[in-house]
Amino acid sequence: MIAPRVLGCCASMRLSLASGVRTGIPAFHPARLVTVSAGGTTPPAPATASQDEKATRWIRTKDEALDLNHLITQPVWTKEERASVHRTHIVPQSVVDRAAYCSVQGLRFGFDFFSLYLFKSRGLFGQMRERDWLRRITFLETVAGVPGMVGGMVRHLHSLRLMRRDRGWIHSLLAEAENERMHLLIALNLRKPGPLFRAAVIVAQAIFTPMFGIAYLLCPRYCHRLVGYLEEEAVKTYSSLLDDIDSGKLPLFAGRRAPGFARTYYNLPESAMLRDVFECIRADESHHRDANHHFSDLGSEESNEFVEHLRHPRTWENLDRSRQSPETTKKS
Ligand SMILES: [Fe+2]
Ligand SMILES: [Fe+2]
Repeated sequence: MIAPRVLGCCASMRLSLASGVRTGIPAFHPARLVTVSAGGTTPPAPATASQDEKATRWIRTKDEALDLNHLITQPVWTKEERASVHRTHIVPQSVVDRAAYCSVQGLRFGFDFFSLYLFKSRGLFGQMRERDWLRRITFLETVAGVPGMVGGMVRHLHSLRLMRRDRGWIHSLLAEAENERMHLLIALNLRKPGPLFRAAVIVAQAIFTPMFGIAYLLCPRYCHRLVGYLEEEAVKTYSSLLDDIDSGKLPLFAGRRAPGFARTYYNLPESAMLRDVFECIRADESHHRDANHHFSDLGSEESNEFVEHLRHPRTWENLDRSRQSPETTKKS
């Protein structure tokens, strides 16, 4: 058993603030935009049409409904569970572990450098503002949804081809892929990507998917350790985001209610804030981290034991849906 190590981190500052929200409708409206200085709040200047357009570009104006019946599983976290997530690190022990760790550190450095996070998170070339965070999260979630789907597909085909059992990995991997895609869809409730951003996502997927697929065929142990380390970074990223919200650096996030889409997915109350959603996402990432480190430790024929988070009994007790009841499901 490998012992986890707790790590630490920090971030930056910003100037704009929007506040005031209505249930189920995104909180932000340009008319509510005010400028905040170190000394206090000044009244907003009358907004022009182009200012309005610019300000609303990254915040969508309506929630989209979510049908839970289409999901493989649904994560539900208590406040305590969300708050108890920590940044952990598995110390690399084998050559494969070290290769995975170096790969992730290289990827992270490259992405942080070119996305300017490396500088902005240290207060250079501006600050990490809400739109920067959303851009970062959206891009990373488009990549994060790939490994689970590729791993699940490879193991599925393996099971068919070799005519042997999978022992509980496929469901877990597909659920992870779906969960990452839900993170992306939540981010898309908040920011509308432009054509350049979409092009970058297409290029990243075209490169990463075949590379990860080949790597998974050759050495699944490396791939799961790699994802475990990527998820360690994801937990750090979301922890930094929460730290920035708590320290007042991201007032647009701090004052915004959770989108209805995210509230439905995480079974959050109507009063939930966007911060609660980010906490739920961080809890998901911590379970991807632990699940993938677990997969890397297992032999490919061993049973997946890390499944408790995938179908939490409380989720099914608390939700009022037909699929909760086998009788009702049979009737329909
Ligand atoms: Fe994610
Ligand atoms: Fe993740």
